[in-house]
Amino acid sequence: MGTLPLFPEQASTISLEVDHLYYFLVVVSVFFTLLIFGAIFYFAVRYRRRSETELPRFQHTGYALEVVWSVIPFGLTMIMFGWGASIFFKESRPPDDSMPIYVVGKQWMWKLQHMEGQREINELHIPVGRPVKLTMTSEDVIHSFYVPDFRTKQDVVPGRYTTTWFTATRPGKYHLFCAEYCGTKHSGMIGWVYAMPPDKYQDWLAGNPSGSLADRGARLFDDLACSNCHKADGSGRCPTLVGVYGSTVKLTGGGTVRADEAYIRESILDPPAKVVEGYQPIMPLFQGQVTEEDVVELIEYIKSLSPRPGVGQPASPDVPTAQPTAAGFQPSNR
Ligand code: CUA
Repeated sequence: MGTLPLFPEQASTISLEVDHLYYFLVVVSVFFTLLIFGAIFYFAVRYRRRSETELPRFQHTGYALEVVWSVIPFGLTMIMFGWGASIFFKESRPPDDSMPIYVVGKQWMWKLQHMEGQREINELHIPVGRPVKLTMTSEDVIHSFYVPDFRTKQDVVPGRYTTTWFTATRPGKYHLFCAEYCGTKHSGMIGWVYAMPPDKYQDWLAGNPSGSLADRGARLFDDLACSNCHKADGSGRCPTLVGVYGSTVKLTGGGTVRADEAYIRESILDPPAKVVEGYQPIMPLFQGQVTEEDVVELIEYIKSLSPRPGVGQPASPDVPTAQPTAAGFQPSNR
């Protein structure tokens, strides 16, 4: 790279693959640009009109030539498609052992929450060599989480969760940008990702006073009086939330829904949207009553009531599982 860095650093496992595809696109583009412009100039001179009275002869193009100039570009674009799709699939599917982190974007800052309870603003600390999965939403408009050194960019959309993941390969400090114009201070919606050696990261994690996300969610669950109706043993007026996460929920009026993060979020903010079979729509709407960060804490608490490995549980063993005491927030029933 020398003094003029044409490319960002390659600091994630996917970087090299993305760059190789990019080099390929550049080489193909440059080759055909030169070929086409060279041919234009060559033919312009070679077949120029030589006298005022000259009339061009009609000439049919050879079929072989037409086939060649159709098949070769088709093959090249199919290579680009297949190659790009394979990288896209890889980037879309976080490994099962990914470390989950929640991201909330708002005008004009990034708020990040670790499972262990750390909260950060415009800074993200992660360990090197471990896949990190981001679950992201926005409080207002569309933002885009962009870390060039990781070759990762994902829109952050109000009202829904989007995800992305990456594995940092070398310790360092990497730029974090918002890559979607989101208002006056869009250009100031920036931060840093700190990739740290795993032991340093553990040290960093250790300085957390306020308990894990699930712990805070459990407190919130009581504070909001969710526990009055969602009782652990299912005796409340609303369904128990023990074991709900990851399960398939039957809905009033037929149909089922898989209880994932998006479903739980919707059921907190807008419970009437999907009512659990056999229950009344009595739960109040929490839209406007709780922040996106509160929702994340509640989701993590509810997830902790369903200890099923491999379905998005906090993989880290030091995350205390909240007691299934208050049980029931009510995912959908109303
Ligand atoms: Cu947020 Cu641009």
